Amino acid sequence: MTLAIKDFFVPLLFFSSIASAATVEHVFQVKNVVVKPLCKEQMIPTVNGSLPGPTINVREGDTLVVHVINNSTYNITIHWHGVFQLKSPWMDGANMITQCPIQPRNNFTYRFDITGQEGTLLWHAHVVNLRATLHGALIIRPRSGRPYPFPKPYKEVPLIFEQWWDVNIELLNLQPAPICDAYLINGLAGDSYPCSKNRMFKLKVVQGKTYLLRIINAALNTHLFFKIADHNVTVVSVDAAYTTPYVSDVMILTPGQTVDALLTADQPIGMYYMSISPYISANSLAPVPPGHDIRSLIVYEGAKSTASPSMSLLPSGTNAIPTAHRFSSNITSLVGGPYWTPVPEHVDEKMFVTMGLGLDPCPPETTCNGPLGQHIAGSFNNRTFVMPETISLQEAYFYNISGVYTDDFPDQPPMKFDYANFSVRTESDYEMMFPERKTSTKTLKFNSTVEIIVQNTGIISPESHPMHLHGFNFYVLGYGFGNYDPILHARNLNLVNPQMHNTVGVPPGGWVVLRFIANNPGTWMFHCHMDAHLPYGIIMVFIVENGPTPETSLQPPPSNLPQCTHDPTIYESPTTNVDLSS
Ligand code: C2O
Repeated sequence: MTLAIKDFFVPLLFFSSIASAATVEHVFQVKNVVVKPLCKEQMIPTVNGSLPGPTINVREGDTLVVHVINNSTYNITIHWHGVFQLKSPWMDGANMITQCPIQPRNNFTYRFDITGQEGTLLWHAHVVNLRATLHGALIIRPRSGRPYPFPKPYKEVPLIFEQWWDVNIELLNLQPAPICDAYLINGLAGDSYPCSKNRMFKLKVVQGKTYLLRIINAALNTHLFFKIADHNVTVVSVDAAYTTPYVSDVMILTPGQTVDALLTADQPIGMYYMSISPYISANSLAPVPPGHDIRSLIVYEGAKSTASPSMSLLPSGTNAIPTAHRFSSNITSLVGGPYWTPVPEHVDEKMFVTMGLGLDPCPPETTCNGPLGQHIAGSFNNRTFVMPETISLQEAYFYNISGVYTDDFPDQPPMKFDYANFSVRTESDYEMMFPERKTSTKTLKFNSTVEIIVQNTGIISPESHPMHLHGFNFYVLGYGFGNYDPILHARNLNLVNPQMHNTVGVPPGGWVVLRFIANNPGTWMFHCHMDAHLPYGIIMVFIVENGPTPETSLQPPPSNLPQCTHDPTIYESPTTNVDLSS
């Protein structure tokens, strides 16, 4: 079944200098197609048959309407990563938190306003690993008549980084998951991979012109460095929040992060590689393939096709962590720029949250592949989040249905320990290794200011994790290594021009301090944006209470919100371990 609505967006605003809002409408046909980025054909779920999926272009103030038609064999939700969803919490697309999934042969229409934010975001599926192939750019430009807070670029270019497995996508659910086979830039693996020599993303530039690169890390599990040979770029926005212009020759993006950067073609006419490479912050449980950089190319107008491109040297080994830290921690927000607001000084809710991996006891008579023969788990404050199974958490909250979750998420870990250098010395240390499995939430008063210190633990591995908050941007007041010191480190937090993000990489064995204003009633996930860590339960859910008026209160769900019914023909994650080597 298909709807007779074409993919389109409405450029109404060209005719008017008065800022008025348009409705931008898309149809997302989710269907399985065969693609071949490397040497083998694979059947993958896609939106409208393309990898990456369609780019959505809107202006700030527009209403976005997306009709999702699920013609795939999978349960689907689509999440609008970084969109505030102010007054539209039912449209967040967080599977089992704000809705049950759209089942095969079913439809659902997402409809929401995009207000108070500009820049580059992404949309992606929010069900198990399906975002590997179901993702695309979501570009929010200023209302007509409003300029960018930087010189107008000659052209704008989305650059989407993706992670590719040359196996059936269902195998990604295995524990341990298979190692990925490649990374793609705008769907292409480039000339450093077999069978892909002539399939490389090429950006044609005119010498002297300036381009706005809209860069998205849509990889499932890997932070990526990005570098252009012989060129610096100027970062002007991260996660759709404007920054002080920041000149750099290299950048890092965690899964889910975006960067907008100006690139001026100011070098001699020629060809220059634009490359990405994975960032290994610590011994990782989801190993990345060794070897080469992943390349795309800048081609200057007039360049000889026989010229050999300039190479870029990406950070690796001992300079990886300092390079990542320098780029991440040097970004500041554009004070006085569009949508900038000063950091609230008074904090109403202060949380200290330990975050990282742990273990879940291996059930009797089974073998488990995790460390010490156990299952791997993850935790916030020693709790592993368990997803609701029969109804979404937001519906359970709205209808006051008991037994789905408990509102008792703790503001502190159950005990103090040497977080970053964990080792088992006492009986109670074992407890920190085996977190408690629970569906627990933390309730916040409407409009309260929340500070979260996220402390990465060294339990199992101290690797960097990207923390993503649905429904809000947060200020990042500081980043550091080791254990957070509430006196020493608190003194040096940036309360003047801290960067704003929806996703932040917690340094390996380190911490970040975040602050946000809980101004949007609903239930909002806060989780690790490494997809492999979602089933480990590195997830929290905030419930933001209603404000004083109907306008500031959670409204009933749309009448056609998908319901959870069990259909055994639908693909679900395997619960047993399968040996991949056979
Ligand atoms: Cu981009 Cu909850 O995710």
